[in-house]
Amino acid sequence: MSHHLLFLKQFFRNPKEIGSFIPASKHLVEEIIKNINFGRAKTIIEIGMGTGAITKEIIRNCEIDAQIVGIEKNRQMFDYVNKYFQSNINPIFINDDVVNLNKYFVAEADYIISSLPFRNFNMQKQAKIMNIIKSNLKENGKLILYQYTNHLDRLLKNYFKSVKKSVVLRNMPVAIVYVCGDVL
Ligand SMILES: C[S@@+](CC[C@H](N)C(=O)[O-])C[C@H]1O[C@@H](n2cnc3c(N)ncnc32)[C@H](O)[C@@H]1O
Repeated sequence: MSHHLLFLKQFFRNPKEIGSFIPASKHLVEEIIKNINFGRAKTIIEIGMGTGAITKEIIRNCEIDAQIVGIEKNRQMFDYVNKYFQSNINPIFINDDVVNLNKYFVAEADYIISSLPFRNFNMQKQAKIMNIIKSNLKENGKLILYQYTNHLDRLLKNYFKSVKKSVVLRNMPVAIVYVCGDVL
């Protein structure tokens, strides 16, 4: 099954959790990837890998000794990534809800990349996930995430001193990429 079809199928099964009916476009992936300094990225955690649009580029660009960890809740999406994105850098793929990330003893990350559809989560779950992200980031680490609306501005400013935004018009739907640093 093509990754687009898999994505669409999972979206119809669980639209709230998948958050989009198509994977991130190459323009959106580029906007995310250009904010990662791969030379200094010893550990990168990706949350919500989907069918691996971003995962693939992280693996392609990272240093050989980097630790790449991806967590994906949806079983079918996880199976896809686990099958097609193994590489000689031995990425660690976890099939679980990100709220359980701390069970897995992952090293603190230089970058956390999130595609989670935060808008579809209640405030309690949003805060829980933000606390998990914060506890898994190095002091000078960065959170990079994308959303389709501005609704996360306030939440992100509660956790990070620096919150920068860029808009990716050539994505369907138009996406906002946030780069957050200086954990509060
Ligand atoms: C909008 S899709 C993005 C997929 C991919 N990163 C991309 O950009 O094409 C969001 C992904 O987050 C996953 N997800 C949603 N809630 C999650 C959670 N609590 N823990 C882990 N993954 C989750 C969904 O299953 C889905 O694959």
